[in-house]
Amino acid sequence: RSAPVEVPEDPADVADLSLTDVNRMVHACRHCPLWEHATGAVTGDGPDNARIMIVGEQPGDREDLEGRPFTGPAGKLLDQALAEAGLDRSGIYVTNAVKHFKWTPRGKLRLHQKPAAGEIEACKPWLLAELSRVAPEIVILLGGTAAGSLLGSGVKVTRHRGVVAAPHVASRVILTVHPSYLLRVDELRKESEYRQFVADLKLAAGGS
Ligand code: URA
Repeated sequence: RSAPVEVPEDPADVADLSLTDVNRMVHACRHCPLWEHATGAVTGDGPDNARIMIVGEQPGDREDLEGRPFTGPAGKLLDQALAEAGLDRSGIYVTNAVKHFKWTPRGKLRLHQKPAAGEIEACKPWLLAELSRVAPEIVILLGGTAAGSLLGSGVKVTRHRGVVAAPHVASRVILTVHPSYLLRVDELRKESEYRQFVADLKLAAGGS
């Protein structure tokens, strides 16, 4: 058994820790109540020197059970779109703005619930810690929660989609929709929305 992890109240106190230590603390984090009903925290996944970081919203049902981000239906779509955009997921650091699955029961299902502003805020120090350790050149924000966490609530995917100026995040920041949006958008628009998503991801390919 590993020793219990003390999670500092002040995020500044993690300034000297490695990414591995930061992620150990995420597993022990009780800064908001979401840990109580999750199987465990889902920390970022990928090389700690990745050139590209992808930030999603929060783990889903599958990710909560498997302990890895983007392994469920939205993850499958993301993998497909990344491949079409010429990006290799194995070289990308993939994480979420919120590290625990928030859900509500519906029969035997666990239905995804949007994280509240306070939960996003409570998790933000962990995202910032990942950002500073990995120091990616390019950050791709998937959807409103990731955008809200790192760019503020005034930034909307509908208005600011594409390359956004956010030098405090990375030298190139790309804002696009969340792949789960592509799973629920109506059939008529599915193909064109997916094409636009791949085009957004291509903004990260080849450094152009
Ligand atoms: N949706 C997300 O935002 N993140 C995941 O890891 C899975 C689904």
